[in-house]
Amino acid sequence: MPERLDKFLSSQNLGSRKDVTLLVRSGRVQVNGETVRDAAQKIEPEADSVTVDGTEVAYRKHLYLMMNKPAGVLSATEDSRAQTVLDLLPPELYRRGLFPAGRLDKDTTGLLIITDDGDFAHKMLAPKSHVYKLYEAETLRPVTEEDAEAFAAGITQGGQTFAPARLWTKMRQGREVALVEIREGKFHQVKRMFQAVGNQVVSLKRLKIGGLSLDETLPAGGARLLTEEEIGSIFMANCT
Ligand code: URA
Repeated sequence: MPERLDKFLSSQNLGSRKDVTLLVRSGRVQVNGETVRDAAQKIEPEADSVTVDGTEVAYRKHLYLMMNKPAGVLSATEDSRAQTVLDLLPPELYRRGLFPAGRLDKDTTGLLIITDDGDFAHKMLAPKSHVYKLYEAETLRPVTEEDAEAFAAGITQGGQTFAPARLWTKMRQGREVALVEIREGKFHQVKRMFQAVGNQVVSLKRLKIGGLSLDETLPAGGARLLTEEEIGSIFMANCT
């Protein structure tokens, strides 16, 4: 679809509409090798080659980001009081229309996908897509075989049913932690499942969505673009 040059440049993070208009007027922008000075000129984002100061603009229709969400930050687009995950994005990764695809609680940490592609988010979150999520939890009391059996059978709590989930443990830095794999994303789901078996989540971190693992080299609050391969890996049926 043809788009105005100023709108295109601004959508690709080259500045506000005002900034990019100045950029175009000053002769720094070329379309298919020709200098263009009219910011309202229409271009074909998918087909035309646009350069700024001789450097090609790598067109991205949508952004797909991975964030290592820290505790204390809301999975929301805006909030009048609390900091949101979008507030943490550096300017070069920020774009209007971004939102977290699937929420983590304020105190939950780890893998969060942020995108401006609504269809993609819908597909990822739709129960019929069977995109599993893997969480690591520290719990008040150790996890038992009975807990794992209850999770596997599917838990009912407060009139709500949770689909069968896998629960197992591993050692991390000399301490036992629980791993939980679920394929739904109901409100406070992991915390409520542990509550239903008389336990309590002390800390919760998401490690995987489908076949995509949290990049542990990202600092808390850090974000980066996902590669094409990583985006595809989300739809691999199983985490483990
Ligand atoms: N389950 C929870 O209880 N909280 C989260 O943030 C994610 C899954």
